[in-house]
Amino acid sequence: MSDRRPASSLIAASILDSDLAALGDEIRRAEAAGVDRIHLDVMDGHFVPNITFGWKTIEAVRRITALPFDAHLMISEPGRWIDRFLDAGCDSITFHVEVEASQTRPALARIRDAGRSAGLSVKPGTPLSALDPYRDLLDIVLVMTVEPGFGGQSFMADVAAAKLAPARAWLDPDGAREVQVDGGGRRDTAEAIGRGGTDVIVAGSALYRADDMAVEVARIRSIADAARAASPVR
Ligand code: DX5
Ligand code: ZN
Repeated sequence: MSDRRPASSLIAASILDSDLAALGDEIRRAEAAGVDRIHLDVMDGHFVPNITFGWKTIEAVRRITALPFDAHLMISEPGRWIDRFLDAGCDSITFHVEVEASQTRPALARIRDAGRSAGLSVKPGTPLSALDPYRDLLDIVLVMTVEPGFGGQSFMADVAAAKLAPARAWLDPDGAREVQVDGGGRRDTAEAIGRGGTDVIVAGSALYRADDMAVEVARIRSIADAARAASPVR
């Protein structure tokens, strides 16, 4: 991960609501549309009430694209499975601060030891202060603006207003690390996201349901960038 903040917001395509029967093509489609990363939502049916896919699927699509893979693990035991996701070729791995705490520091350290970026995510109801014990090990803070589990939900504007700018300020004022926002990212919410100084916008349904994905990517990025440029949060 770069030690400089990118000038523009990055867009990460969540494949959760893509056509999974043609997952490779859906990833190529996102790449052709200009996304910066692929966001992979792993769910275990325990941490969240939904089950998606695991490392085998990630490994299979790793050869489809050279884009960075951001894994978002919504699983109860990230510490148990972290090596599998590293071996599958994830460039960054983010899991949830709400999991049982004894695994958190070792799992973050393991991700970093492997030369990848380590992240923690906070659900809408979890305060950013829950991240305090892990500040020294974090490359990424992922702020959830929906309850994790499903794509296509409505953006929680109050959560964004309360957390995005403080997360950016808390993480690293020099911009060496990044804040991601996940849930309801689309053209209507891009201004609020940009205002918070957010570095990476995850977008799933907004991209995969768009008539023209490239237009949607460009629109979300330009709205967020304009708001970011006007924002005191840098
Ligand atoms: C929710 C996932 C998100 C979500 C994004 O649990 O982490 O990545 O699917 O999808 P949209 O953009 O449709 O909210
Ligand atoms: Zn996600």
